[in-house]
Amino acid sequence: MCGIVGYIGDKKATPIIVDGLSRLEYRGYDSAGIAVFKDNKVQVEKYEGRLSVLADKVLEKDYNGTIGIGHTRWATHGAPSDANSHPHTDQTGDIAVIHNGIIENYMKLKEWLIEEKGVSFKSETDTEVIAHLINYYYEGDLLDAVFKTIEKMEGAYAIAVVCKDEPDKIVAVRKDSPLIVGLGKGENFLASDIPAILKHTRDVFLIENDEVVLLTKDRVTIYNELRQVQAREIYKVTWDVESAEKEGYEHFMIKEIHEQPKGIHETLNRRLNSEGIIELDEIKITKEDLDKINKIYIVACGTAYHAGLVGKYAIEKFAKIPVNCDIASEFRYRDPFIDENTLFIAVSQSGETLDTLAALREAKRRGARILSVVNVVGSSVARESHDVFYTWAGPEIAVASSKAYTTQLTAMYMIALHMGLTKGALSRERYDEIIAEIGKMPEKVQSILDDFTDIQHLAGTQFNNESVFFMGRGLDIDVAMEGSLKLKEISYINSSAIAAGELKHGTIALIEDGTLVVALATQDKLYEKMLSNIKEVKARGAHVVAIAKEGNKEVEKSADTVIYIPDTMDELAPILSVVPQQLFSYYVAVARGCDVDKPRNLAKSVTVE
Ligand code: G6P
Repeated sequence: MCGIVGYIGDKKATPIIVDGLSRLEYRGYDSAGIAVFKDNKVQVEKYEGRLSVLADKVLEKDYNGTIGIGHTRWATHGAPSDANSHPHTDQTGDIAVIHNGIIENYMKLKEWLIEEKGVSFKSETDTEVIAHLINYYYEGDLLDAVFKTIEKMEGAYAIAVVCKDEPDKIVAVRKDSPLIVGLGKGENFLASDIPAILKHTRDVFLIENDEVVLLTKDRVTIYNELRQVQAREIYKVTWDVESAEKEGYEHFMIKEIHEQPKGIHETLNRRLNSEGIIELDEIKITKEDLDKINKIYIVACGTAYHAGLVGKYAIEKFAKIPVNCDIASEFRYRDPFIDENTLFIAVSQSGETLDTLAALREAKRRGARILSVVNVVGSSVARESHDVFYTWAGPEIAVASSKAYTTQLTAMYMIALHMGLTKGALSRERYDEIIAEIGKMPEKVQSILDDFTDIQHLAGTQFNNESVFFMGRGLDIDVAMEGSLKLKEISYINSSAIAAGELKHGTIALIEDGTLVVALATQDKLYEKMLSNIKEVKARGAHVVAIAKEGNKEVEKSADTVIYIPDTMDELAPILSVVPQQLFSYYVAVARGCDVDKPRNLAKSVTVE
C-alpha cells in the first residue's frame, strides 16, 4: 500500500526520505518517487520498481534541498509505471503532490480541467488532478490553494504538497488515510506510518480526519476544515524500531511466526488480574449492555476474517449470543439488519483496511455498538470504535499475517469468555479451566516451533505441487482456510480449503494420484468422521498430510504423514493447528524461491476498495 514520507529542516532531505520510505516497504508497493529542491526548482524523480531503483538514481545526484516529499505507490488508477508514480506535478512543474488513497470524483475533475482549462495530463492517475487543481487555485498562498482544492475532492486520501514559490513549507491533508507528523528540533517529519520517522524522533502528532497541516522547519500548525488552528497533544512512541527489524531471521515472516508465543502471552497475561479474571479496561460494555445485545456481526478481511470465524464459534459457545461472521467487502453492500441492539466487531491487524473501515462506519451509522480487535494503536478502525481490544502482537511486517492471527484468536477467546462470564452463560469453573489452558498456549506453540525441522523437511518434498487442498470439519475448516490462504499468498500454489463433508459434492473429482491434501483432524467429536474423509481421498490416490492431536494415533493408518500438535481442548485447537500450516507455507515458499515477505500483487495494508 502507498507510503508517504516528508522532511523539512536543515539536513539534506533525500537520504532521510529514501530511508523513511525503506521503512514503509513492508506495506507493499510497485514504484517510488521523491520531490526535493535543487537550484531553486522542485526536482521530481520517480521510477517503477523497487525503492533501490530510485535510491540508486537520486542518491548520486546530490540534491541540495532540505525539504522534500517521497512516496511508494501501490497501483490503483493506472498500471505501475514511471509516469504513474508519484509525485505528480502541475503543468508548470512548480507544484508536486504525493497521495495515498483514491479521489472518487477525479474523472469529473479531470474532464473539467481538460475542457475548461486546457490542461494536458501526463499520467493515468487520479492524483495528478490534485496538482493541477492546486495550481488553478494558487495565488501565492499554498495553504489556501490546498484548502480550496480539497473542497472539490471526494474520496479517501492523505496528501503532501510542496511548491517552488514557497520553499519553506510542506502542506499535508488527512482524510480517511493515515498521516502523522514527527517533531524534531529545527526539523519536522511527515509520514503515513510511524516507523518511517522513528529513527529521528519519538514525538508525534496524530493527524485527525479532515485536518490540514502546515509544516515549516520550526513549526507545525494543524487546522480543521474550517481553517481553525487545532491544539494537539504529543504522542510519545514507546516501542522500538528494532522490534520492526529481522533480528537474525531470514525473513520477517519466520521471525513473526516465532514471536507468536510472546504475542499470545502478552495479549492474555497483561489483562489477567490477580484472581485470574480477564479485565478489559478498554471495553466499557456492561452486563446491562450485554443483556440487550441480541446479535453480533464480526466483520473483517483476509486473515482477520479467518480469526473472526473462530470468534463466532467461541462467542456462540461461551456467551450464547448469535453471531454472523462476514467478509467486510460483502457486508457493506448487503443491507445487513442492524439496530442499537447489535454489536459489531471489526477485526483488523492494521486498523486501516478500507473495506473493514467502511463496514464499521455503515454499522455505526445504523446504530450498532462498535468493538474492534486491532493491532496498530491509534489506527483508523481503533479510533472510530466505541471500544477497542488491542492485540499486543507488535508490528507485523511480512505481508502474510501470522502472529496477528494467533493474537486475534486469543483476543476473540478472551472477549467470548468475558461475555460468557458477565452474562452468566458460562460457569466460573469452566471459565477458569479455559483461561488456564489459554495460559499454556505460548508453551505449546513453542513446542511446535521447536520441532520445525520435520515440517521443513516435508516442505522440501512437497514444494513442487501445482495445487493443494486443505480440509477439516468444525473449527478445523476455519483454520484450514487460513492454512490455504497462507500457502497461496506466499508460494503462489493454487490451494483451496473445503469442509471435508463437502468433498463428495464436487472437490473429490479433482483428487488424483499424488494430489496433496492437508487434513486437519484436531476435533475429538469429529475425529472418526475425518478419518473416513482421509480414507476417501486416499482411495483416489491423494498424498495426505494430517494434523492431529498428540495421542490420536489412529490417523497414522490412513495418512502418509502426521504432524502432531500438543493435546488441548477442541475449542482452543486453532491456536495450535495453524502453526504447522504457517511453517509449511513458509518453507514451501522459500523452497520455491518466492519473495516471502513481499508476495507479488499483495499489500500489507489495503486502504483502497
Ligand atoms: C491484506 C493483508 C492480509 C490481511 C488483510 C486484512 O490482504 O495482506 O494479511 O489479513 O489485508 O488486513 P487487516 O490489517 O485489516 O487485518
